[in-house]
Amino acid sequence: MERYADRRVLVTGAASGIGRAVVLRLLAEGGRAVAVDVAKEGLEETARLAAEIGSRERLVTAVIDISDETAVNEGVAAAVAGLGGLDVLVNAAGMLRGARTHECELELWNRVIGINLTGTFLMTRAALPALLESGRGVVVNFSSTAAQFGHPYMAAYSASKGGILSFTHSIAQEYSRQGLRAVNILPGGISSGITDNIASLVPEDVDWNLFLKLNAAIGQGFGEPEHIAGVVAMVASDDGAFITGTEIRVDGGAHH
Ligand SMILES: NC(=O)c1ccc[n+]([C@@H]2O[C@H](COP(=O)([O-])OP(=O)(O)OC[C@H]3O[C@@H](n4cnc5c(N)ncnc54)[C@H](O)[C@@H]3O)[C@@H](O)[C@H]2O)c1
Repeated sequence: MERYADRRVLVTGAASGIGRAVVLRLLAEGGRAVAVDVAKEGLEETARLAAEIGSRERLVTAVIDISDETAVNEGVAAAVAGLGGLDVLVNAAGMLRGARTHECELELWNRVIGINLTGTFLMTRAALPALLESGRGVVVNFSSTAAQFGHPYMAAYSASKGGILSFTHSIAQEYSRQGLRAVNILPGGISSGITDNIASLVPEDVDWNLFLKLNAAIGQGFGEPEHIAGVVAMVASDDGAFITGTEIRVDGGAHH
């Protein structure tokens, strides 16, 4: 499938997990991509994997902290200039740090919101003029099942993902007449940098029974980043032309 043969895409969180899988999938479908992350070595590995599928010449990597306004504005401008415009923005960068909520330091709260929610806003704001110029621009944002199903010890993370959910609905409506689409993806448990390290990201001695209703084993178990990448590839292509202002939950049936 060459659904991205004439598409210019920008993907954050591209050094690991879901973001990396999205980059590789959109390259495999013919796209040209700028892959963004704070993790330089992870980006180098993404570039190596792109070379393995013969797509290295259509990929540029850029180290950008999405919570840094200046870095985002300069980085997105450079990406748009290099690509000659922009058709698709995938905001997959995110982080999880848990805490018992009554012990959650303001610094931790601000960091989680600052990267996940404000970072998604900063990237989207910087990319919007080029996406509107495209006339068929698509923003794919990463919310989470944490936005809709109580995730204990993750109040900041869940709030950031709930914010992304609402933010995406707002822009979908605001720019609908200009041809922009905006869609939330809500992954359930997907093997990645976050889930593989979950025990170290929540406080010690948490009550794991509180996670029972979120147990991925109720559905098909943990998914792989490629399960999400395939959905993103559909949504942001012309196959998703009538999908906007909504969310797609991809959780292997863990939350039905
Ligand atoms: N894995 C899951 O089960 C799951 C479930 C729901 C939602 N999500 C969301 O999916 C997205 C992708 O996460 P993942 O699961 O692949 O995790 P991951 O840890 O493998 O990848 C996240 C990437 O984001 C990057 N990142 C973090 N802070 C950044 C910053 N300030 N600037 C730029 N890049 C930054 C990290 O370096 C990392 O490469 C995240 O938004 C996450 O919240 C994941």
